[in-house]
Amino acid sequence: MPVVLQVANLVKSFGSLTAVNDVSFEIRQGSCFGLLGPNGAGKTTTIEMMEGIKTPDSGTIRYQGKPLGERFRNEAGIMFQTTALQEHIKVREIMLQFSRFYPDSASIDELASQFALHDFLHQDTRKLSGGQKQRLLLAMAQINKPKILFLDEPTTGLDPQSRRNLWKEVQKIKEEGATVLLTTHYMEEAYELCDEIAIMDHGRIIAHDAPDALLAAHFDDVVVQLHAADIPRDIGEREFHATYRNDSAHIVTGDVNKTIEHLLQFDIPLDRLRIRARDLEDLFLELTGKELRA
Ligand SMILES: Nc1ncnc2c1ncn2[C@@H]1O[C@H](COP(=O)(O)OP(=O)(O)OP(=O)(O)O)[C@@H](O)[C@H]1O
Ligand SMILES: [Mg+2]
Repeated sequence: MPVVLQVANLVKSFGSLTAVNDVSFEIRQGSCFGLLGPNGAGKTTTIEMMEGIKTPDSGTIRYQGKPLGERFRNEAGIMFQTTALQEHIKVREIMLQFSRFYPDSASIDELASQFALHDFLHQDTRKLSGGQKQRLLLAMAQINKPKILFLDEPTTGLDPQSRRNLWKEVQKIKEEGATVLLTTHYMEEAYELCDEIAIMDHGRIIAHDAPDALLAAHFDDVVVQLHAADIPRDIGEREFHATYRNDSAHIVTGDVNKTIEHLLQFDIPLDRLRIRARDLEDLFLELTGKELRA
């Protein structure tokens, strides 16, 4: 697929802080590109430069081979990380108002049914719950039938079911040929939706590839997971270099047989043992030293 959006050597500073430090990548048509990184990594600053909202100090952004212009403005849909919705206005009216900015806009009723907004169309925007507001914002980002959609943490604050519904919507958007740029703190979401991900930290991209390729390149081991109560912390840490998270102890090993023999030597019960492949959460932790959901 051809490249639709290309950023090269983007830099943006705020005073002495370089929030985005020489960032380059390309996004292919019909793909979902995920930007991951801890709080303050520079994701929103990067995405806002790509949206044409912040001006880079240096570097270039090209849409369909050309600098951002009229065509980009008509074809881009944007869902900001935080948006203050106008108050004292009904949901239907705000959608209508928004649609008038564009020469070719989607039907409000179709968007309402797509995003389960029908019940709220005549409600004041102040009365929406967090998740309802999130759905409205996603619907509004699609009012101009965008060919490229920017979603900055679209599912933060959503319940698990609404999050999955939104994933389905994003899949559908992709299937219809649109391109998506997404930021998220949810590993599962990135894995589910993204064809490529870039992990940012301190303004720089520190890893970039397809999710499975990233995992294959970084790990050749698995995690033996035990219930924390089954393996005393002193033994776990000393003998197995285990890390304890919530109620579980995680032992990273390249040789499961040997680890299990070793566990048996210490009479550790194995009834609740699980073995899992390394995932993006592990990769994130390894690369940034931080949990994904900071
Ligand atoms: N307008 C601004 N003025 C000064 N500093 C800013 C401004 N906007 C962002 N920053 C700083 O730039 C850095 C990157 O911020 P950014 O919002 O891009 O991070 P992020 O990766 O989106 O984080 P989060 O996951 O919390 O949304 C942060 O240290 C932030 O404090
Ligand atoms: Mg952000």
